Amino acid sequence: MSRIQLHDKTFDLFISEAEVNRAIDKLALEIGRKYDGKRPLFLGVLNGAFFFAAELVKRLDIECEISFVKVASYHGTSSSGTVTQLIGLTERIEGRHVVVLEDIVDTGGTVENIMASLAEHHPASVSIAALLFKPSAYKKTIPIEHVALEIPNAFVVGSGLDHDGLGRNLRGIYRITEN
Ligand code: IMP
Repeated sequence: MSRIQLHDKTFDLFISEAEVNRAIDKLALEIGRKYDGKRPLFLGVLNGAFFFAAELVKRLDIECEISFVKVASYHGTSSSGTVTQLIGLTERIEGRHVVVLEDIVDTGGTVENIMASLAEHHPASVSIAALLFKPSAYKKTIPIEHVALEIPNAFVVGSGLDHDGLGRNLRGIYRITEN
C-alpha cells in the first residue's frame, strides 16, 4: 500500500521496509564495532523508539543492556519555558557507556534535554543513535553520531513514528502528502 490516510492527513510511501532494514544493518555494524567490550546500556526513548530499539539490538552480538525511558514535557513558569523531565531511568548509569536511541531527531530539543539529564548521573560516555535525522531542521550543536537515515524536513510516520497516535505499526516510512 503506497498511500495511506491517518486521521485528516494522507501519506505516501517514502522509504521502503527493505531500505529501512538495510540502513539499520549498516548502523548495527558501526555500533557493534564501536561498543564491543564496553557493555553499553541502550536507552530507548518511548514511545517512538520501540521499533528502532528492537531492530537494532537484535542485530548486535555484543554484550549489552537495553532499557527504556520516557520524556515528559510540561510548561514551567514563563521564565523557565518548557521543562523536560526524563522518567523511568532505573539503571545506575554512573561510569557506563550509554547510547540513547531516538526514533527521529528533528530540531534537537528533545535530545539536548535528555543529554543534560543524563549528564547529571555521570556516565562514562553518552552518544545518540537515531533511526531518522532531519539535518535541515536541526538547531543544536550536539553531534548525532549514529544515524540510520537522513531525511528532508518533512513530517513522516511509520517504523515507530506516529501522527496523533496512528501509524507507528506501518512498515517503512511514509511522508505527508504535499497539497
Ligand atoms: P525534536 O525535539 O524537535 O528533535 O523532536 C523530536 C520528537 O518530535 C521526536 O521524538 C518525535 O516524537 C517528534 N517528531 C519530530 N519529527 C517528527 C516526524 O516527522 N514524525 C513524527 N514525529 C516527529
